[in-house]
Amino acid sequence: MKYAVRYYTKSGNTKRLAEAIAGVLGVEALPISEPVTEKVDALFLGNSYYAFSIDPEVRAFIGTLDKNLVGKIVNFGSAAMLNSTYKKVKAEADKVGIPMDAKEFHCKGEFKGLHKGRPNASDLKAAVEFAKQMMH
Ligand SMILES: Cc1cc2nc3c(=O)[nH]c(=O)nc-3n(C[C@H](O)[C@H](O)[C@H](O)COP(=O)(O)O)c2cc1C
Repeated sequence: MKYAVRYYTKSGNTKRLAEAIAGVLGVEALPISEPVTEKVDALFLGNSYYAFSIDPEVRAFIGTLDKNLVGKIVNFGSAAMLNSTYKKVKAEADKVGIPMDAKEFHCKGEFKGLHKGRPNASDLKAAVEFAKQMMH
């Protein structure tokens, strides 16, 4: 199986999750400024909520994806209040005809005074376990 990891981050939280996941998958965690140019079975896409939605750059990135190259998207993120960006990401993935894996990873991410230090060591461990599980 071939994998790619892309992430969008404003303050580094999602990047840290991406690096933990990519380490398990044996690939590099890259920002969404790096297009997906090789065929992969699964693209792990890290993203979060900013003012109740995903960032326009994430929408635009999903719009660039080629369904002949990307078998499916695996969502992960670190939104502070909401638990999942899944529906927002799926709405964009549907437009380009790329399926979403039903499984995703989410942990709380630090935001203003909330969730200090997160993702923390145990969040990163959970992200590693998630990635291992997704490889089976
Ligand atoms: C400008 C801004 C707006 C945000 N709005 C939301 C929001 O509406 N809902 C939510 O759950 N988290 C919100 N957050 C929290 C982020 O999703 C959270 O801190 C996340 O871990 C940030 O990941 P990053 O460091 O990879 O950018 C917001 C963060 C910022 C900076």
